[in-house]
Amino acid sequence: MKLKYSLITRRTFLNTLFGGWLFAFFSGAFYTLMKFAFPTLGKEPDFVVLDRKDFSDIPNNSVKPFAWGGALGLYFKKEDGSVAALKGVCTHMECNVAYKPEEKKFYCACHQGWFDETGRNIAGPPPKPLEVFDVTEDGDKLIIARKGVKVELPKA
Ligand code: FES
Repeated sequence: MKLKYSLITRRTFLNTLFGGWLFAFFSGAFYTLMKFAFPTLGKEPDFVVLDRKDFSDIPNNSVKPFAWGGALGLYFKKEDGSVAALKGVCTHMECNVAYKPEEKKFYCACHQGWFDETGRNIAGPPPKPLEVFDVTEDGDKLIIARKGVKVELPKA
């Protein structure tokens, strides 16, 4: 069926087309500018170096957060005093997880995901375990690195 009149005018059509083109152009330019101004934005480090004294006195069966790039890292002192470090970001949809000391598990409140003390996903929708990092003590520094990344600090 052919309409006797158009639903939009030629001017509206051309304005929409031109506006869409302008939006796409400036979005691309803005993205490029942001990548130039902040080249590490959104990237995660291979390791972080922390002050050991800030983490040495946390009680057993607790966690202390640290910055893993722009993400949450969790320094974890287990019940037996051994330590671990994990990325505190859920593997389902990237919500931050919290440690539940009474249950000795990590919990993601977004969709009720659970991880055990080793970071293994044990209940709920998370498809993979939490990322676990290597923890090394070097003098008064604490080096937290991705698995397999070897870090040597310059000697003073
Ligand atoms: S984001 Fe953690 S369970 Fe969905």
